[in-house]
Amino acid sequence: MTTLEFKNVTKIYNVRGSGQIRALDDVSFTLRSHQTIGLVGQSGSGKSTIAKILTQLETPTHGEVLLDGTPIPRGGRGLRKYRQQLRMVFQDPFASLNPYHSIRHHVERPLRLDKVVPSGEIDAEVRRLLERVKLDPDAVMERRPHELSGGQRQRVAIARALASRPALLVADEPVSMLDVSLRLGVLNLLADLQREQGLGVLYITHDLATARHFSDEIMVLNQGRAVEYGPADDVILNPKDPYTRELRAASPDPEEFFRTAATQAGGAR
Ligand SMILES: Nc1ncnc2c1ncn2[C@@H]1O[C@H](COP(=O)(O)OP(=O)(O)O)[C@@H](O)[C@H]1O
Ligand SMILES: [Mg+2]
Repeated sequence: MTTLEFKNVTKIYNVRGSGQIRALDDVSFTLRSHQTIGLVGQSGSGKSTIAKILTQLETPTHGEVLLDGTPIPRGGRGLRKYRQQLRMVFQDPFASLNPYHSIRHHVERPLRLDKVVPSGEIDAEVRRLLERVKLDPDAVMERRPHELSGGQRQRVAIARALASRPALLVADEPVSMLDVSLRLGVLNLLADLQREQGLGVLYITHDLATARHFSDEIMVLNQGRAVEYGPADDVILNPKDPYTRELRAASPDPEEFFRTAATQAGGAR
């Protein structure tokens, strides 16, 4: 069991000319393996700032992040271990893959860096990972990202994230740039992986309907503050905060969402 504590984190950005932006205000949550937390909020609410702090692109102004009770080390083996334990899937599968490298290269790299398997087994492991995300290794391995569809590219990004055998996965709006017809397939894949491999997933989205469907717990962010945090059904059915009610009114009826997605997914990848 791996536990990640995001503890009383405040993040203030200093912006030249316009002063300070309080992107996060005393936000706390605990993510454990075998669990999905849906992090929901409108654009600008602070979601990606949480992802950036977790991947150390930013540091908290106040508060801390603990992995199994230990603050994230600043360097050395401890930091490597943290990065191996927590992997990220980004919003834009085009920007996150290198256009000059093959799919094989993308998945191989973390296997080599983290020495996940002996070098003689790397090829087989790349194939296994691609199959795991429902891609045909022979069809995609030697291709480059632009030769794949958006949905296939996002599957490659997921395979790459899984290569290091992390305990936790952070997915920042992983389907918002995909065609509607491809979204449900990728979300279902993440849900399968979560269940079968016991991953802890932080699913970041602006969509309350999929958050409810795919998450055990939901946290709603509004202007950097956690206005709601609890079991998914409680948050949706008994929202305490007016903002959550607004979000709920603005999000599509979940059943409608899944009906449409299922109809449009016919044969699409
Ligand atoms: N590097 C940065 N410098 C200054 N302000 C930033 C920076 N990154 C994000 N912000 C601001 O912080 C707030 C939260 O942004 P973000 O975390 O990206 O929200 P979300 O992912 O929910 O859209 C926004 O007001 C945004 O403009
Ligand atoms: Mg964002």
